[in-house]
Amino acid sequence: MEINPQLERISFLIGTWRGHGRGVYPTIEAFEYDEEIDLAPLGPKPMLRYSQSTWMPGTRDPLHSEIGYVRPVGTDAAELIIAQPTGITEIHTGTIIERRIEFRTVSVERAPSAKEVLSVERRIEVHEGRLTYELFMGAVGQPHQLHLEATLEKSK
Ligand code: HEM
Repeated sequence: MEINPQLERISFLIGTWRGHGRGVYPTIEAFEYDEEIDLAPLGPKPMLRYSQSTWMPGTRDPLHSEIGYVRPVGTDAAELIIAQPTGITEIHTGTIIERRIEFRTVSVERAPSAKEVLSVERRIEVHEGRLTYELFMGAVGQPHQLHLEATLEKSK
């Protein structure tokens, strides 16, 4: 199927990506994870559907997962909407710089029992079939800082 022309600016994200990441935060032990990310056009609409799953390295024991949508805005911006099973939702605006997008939350909402997360920043880039990202957050009383970094290869 032809992709919606409005998706062209972010078409570098489209694909199934598999790889490995590591996580840190001052309040927890550092950890590693295997990850799969799927980004696909939502039929003919000008949005990408995003889904992500992570596992303990080398196993299928689930860790974090999330789903959402990427919405291009004009030629150099995009919005990102994400829901997490931990009771957190993120709404981001982002700037597209070549094959990189820098997203920062305009809103984080939490279910009453969710942990405190006040800000999230996601920097994603794709070069030569490799997707890398960094995620920063201000959470549980800590200043905004790195929580995750990962590298994934395109698998389809
Ligand atoms: C690849 C995705 C992610 C993985 C594998 C991951 C993994 C982990 C692990 C293993 C912990 C420590 C144990 C625990 O509290 O469950 C943790 C803590 C935490 N994560 Fe993540 N996480 C991911 C994404 C996120 C995202 C997107 C957010 C928020 C937007 C987030 C927010 C937190 C918070 C608030 C804590 C608790 C820190 C504390 O209580 O001291 N995580 N994460």
